[in-house]
Amino acid sequence: MKSQITHLECTLCGKNYSHRKPMRLCPDDQKPLYARYDLQKAAETLTPESLSGRASNMWRYEEVMPVEKSESVITLGEGFTPLFKAERLGSSLGMDELFIKDEGVNPTGSFKARGLSAAVSMAHQLGEMKLTMPSAGNAAGAMSAYAAKAGMEAHVFMPEDAPEANQIECVAYGAQLNLVKGFITDAGKLSAEAAEEHGLFDVSTLREPYRPEGKKTMGYEIVEQLNFEVPDVIVYPTGGGTGIVGIWKALDEMEALGWIGSERPRMICVQAEGCAPIVTAYRKGEEFADPFPNPQTLAAGMRVPAAVGDFLVLRAVRESGGTAVTVDDKTMVASVKKMAAHEGIFAAPEGGATLSALEQSLESGEVGRDERVVLLNTGSALKYLDVLGPALADV
Ligand SMILES: Cc1ncc(COP(=O)(O)O)c(C=O)c1O
Repeated sequence: MKSQITHLECTLCGKNYSHRKPMRLCPDDQKPLYARYDLQKAAETLTPESLSGRASNMWRYEEVMPVEKSESVITLGEGFTPLFKAERLGSSLGMDELFIKDEGVNPTGSFKARGLSAAVSMAHQLGEMKLTMPSAGNAAGAMSAYAAKAGMEAHVFMPEDAPEANQIECVAYGAQLNLVKGFITDAGKLSAEAAEEHGLFDVSTLREPYRPEGKKTMGYEIVEQLNFEVPDVIVYPTGGGTGIVGIWKALDEMEALGWIGSERPRMICVQAEGCAPIVTAYRKGEEFADPFPNPQTLAAGMRVPAAVGDFLVLRAVRESGGTAVTVDDKTMVASVKKMAAHEGIFAAPEGGATLSALEQSLESGEVGRDERVVLLNTGSALKYLDVLGPALADV
């Protein structure tokens, strides 16, 4: 691999650590670590022209991926998903330049495949062969699949009301499934205890450094697919926040690589009305978010009441000049139907939420109808049929 990784850096205190040993949070302040690269060196070979002919998956950006040993790349073909121009939906909204990046076509049906391919690959390189994680559902399915491919042991902890498809797929992939009474935060505590007790490596989102490295490739792809131009707005459904901060990190890296200038999209963070810790902190002007009490939404991926990377999401939204908005479940489900009927994309409720947020932002004037907007459909509705089926019949 041509990885130009140099070290890990704490996102809060800036302290550096080696990437050659297993790390989770910064030992000093318990905040996320980011992988850093020699981007000047990477720019010598990772040029826009160099991309034609490379693998049509996220590993095409290998210079800015963390894995150094090619035998440790655990891949199921994740990434390089289509960026569709949403002509019919766009015209119904009076927009000429509306795009949908469809992450539902990833292995295991969601963008979680990217983060887990990167994290499982790094675990493999570092010799960690027993993994555990808490998950709202999709991440557990993805980890279980990549662990199966790598021949690793996988333990997953998910709320007992997580979508049925996620529970079934984990078992099929050979993972040990633990259903938890409570929320993902409760699952997180149990996963951490299991890690301690049984010597498992915990790959909770942003509590290990490499899931954002997989997710950042969504940002690389959007820019590559728009011919090395940056859209005006990116709308992202936010739970733990790794997707939105990954895209933000990619934009900085692409500027250092000379692919783009200092221009940035406005990042719109969407959360569910029933679980909106980041939006609440954004509105109050706070740097960190308080845990959201009694989180409720059928969009399981956004049912995340507290996130260790809260300040990174808030930073990205504010620095980009974007905003943070909530949508209610009914509107989200109506948007799933609208996206499906106009574009042939059967989106996860989280993906539907991005369309609801766009409509709200067009209405408020936050987004202009002449702007180039990218909606991230982060997953496939087929993973949610047990909860989405009845809800769809209701809108
Ligand atoms: C389909 C879907 N969309 C969005 C999210 C939220 O992603 P993130 O944790 O990167 O904010 C999740 C997380 O589980 C998800 O499964």
